[in-house]
Amino acid sequence: AVGTYLLSRYFSSRSDSKEKVNLEVDKDNAKVVHSFDIEDISKKAVYCRCWRSKKFPYCDGAHTKHNEETGDNVGPLIIKRR
Ligand code: FES
Repeated sequence: AVGTYLLSRYFSSRSDSKEKVNLEVDKDNAKVVHSFDIEDISKKAVYCRCWRSKKFPYCDGAHTKHNEETGDNVGPLIIKRR
């Protein structure tokens, strides 16, 4: 019950934020999904999480400009091999 209460508070506190995250990637698709086999990642892969990269799903550094313009704090997901 406490968990449900906290979840409902979390979501209702976010109800003022209904803008789209994805402004231009693959807009003809109902859902944009990318899948990679872990074996195909060489030393390091850097994936975009801000949806502003021109090389999506890979990060091209566009998050820096997005953060400057919006006050956001997003950055990429980096997957490395040891
Ligand atoms: Fe989107 Fe870097 S360009 S996270």
